[in-house]
Amino acid sequence: MKYAFPDGFLWGASTSSHQVEGGNTNQWSEWEKKNATRLASEATKKHGTLPSWNDIRKEAKNPQNYISGIACDHYNRFEEDFDIAKSLGHTAHRLSIEWSRVEPREGFFDEKEIAHYQRVIQALRARNIEPFVTLWHWTLPFWVSKQGSWENKKTISDFVRYAKKLAESLPEVRFWVTLNEPLIYTGMSYMVGTWPPQKKSVIAYIRVIHNLITAHKDAYRVMRTSDNHIGIAKHNIAFTGIGAMSARWWFNRYFLEKIKNHQDFIGLNYYQHKNMLFGKNNKKNPTDVGWEIYPEGIYRVLKELAPYKKPVYITENGIADAHDTKRTQFIKDHLIWIHKAIAEGVGVRGYLYWSLLDNFEWSDGFWPRFGLVEVDRQTLERRIRPSAHEYAKIIKNNGF
Ligand code: BGC
Repeated sequence: MKYAFPDGFLWGASTSSHQVEGGNTNQWSEWEKKNATRLASEATKKHGTLPSWNDIRKEAKNPQNYISGIACDHYNRFEEDFDIAKSLGHTAHRLSIEWSRVEPREGFFDEKEIAHYQRVIQALRARNIEPFVTLWHWTLPFWVSKQGSWENKKTISDFVRYAKKLAESLPEVRFWVTLNEPLIYTGMSYMVGTWPPQKKSVIAYIRVIHNLITAHKDAYRVMRTSDNHIGIAKHNIAFTGIGAMSARWWFNRYFLEKIKNHQDFIGLNYYQHKNMLFGKNNKKNPTDVGWEIYPEGIYRVLKELAPYKKPVYITENGIADAHDTKRTQFIKDHLIWIHKAIAEGVGVRGYLYWSLLDNFEWSDGFWPRFGLVEVDRQTLERRIRPSAHEYAKIIKNNGF
């Protein structure tokens, strides 16, 4: 075998509550309802030049595409979905807790919903699948968005109370991810202004980032036990070209520097290459959502993490590929570069593909298909894609 991975390497896939559960009521679901028609009418302008446009046009122009609604009904079908993950040999699985379910009103914890997540964790444990549990994957209860979301310092202590409650209620969780991709969220929600709350304010952007830093550190302090490991999922970009150094410092490193004494592992989400000033990205063979495929980038961002001397888990890496013609190669090519980083001393301990299921891709809705498993939008029937079986072979051999 050319690419053998370390013993005990964890393999699996990721999801997030709002994208798969269905039936959520939070700041994002409200925003969807208000913006679905607009998003549908802007689809041609936004995606019309994509090579995949002919395939996606019908869905992308339909306002229903932009409403999460029943999503994958994973809230009710988690056992079936974990059976699939098990049948594919997965040994780890990342999911998120929906804050708006467990604390629908300020200070009121809904024990029925907490019991639901206890069953979810037990279902993974019963299948020998290690849970990675995210506390915040971008969605917020109404009462939090009403008080100004993460712009309001009060949200920090509210989040910490929620984190403490969940850590106490789910003591068997060993891997906690407090926050998902703080810089992507703040960038899209407070700078680019296309995601809720659709602001364009540098001051708000900086304030939110710093509140998230404090929230993570405070949550770390109250959650940490001798049995668990706590980190964040950090979306890092492979920056190249002129200006890459400062982009790396701000986007890839700043947040990690601030929390470096409050994390046991680094969760890395990798999707993108950005060739900075005067550079060009190679758009010849893009994914369905138009992103460049740049496997070498995962090696570059992993090497940047080496100085932290922490275990690294790839908490997301994946491709929108409805026809499943590129996914197997995509996974293998990224694993080749991960393997090289490991050989050079970066402590990568696991790989979680994004995503187990086709799901709700935020402001793009359902048309991007990231899943190892296809979800029929009419019947919600699950169909395992050929690439998922190829990935299962890699898992079985712990390499390829
Ligand atoms: C997010 C996921 C998202 C994926 C693909 C990541 O930035 O954490 O929620 O679905 O990228 O866009």
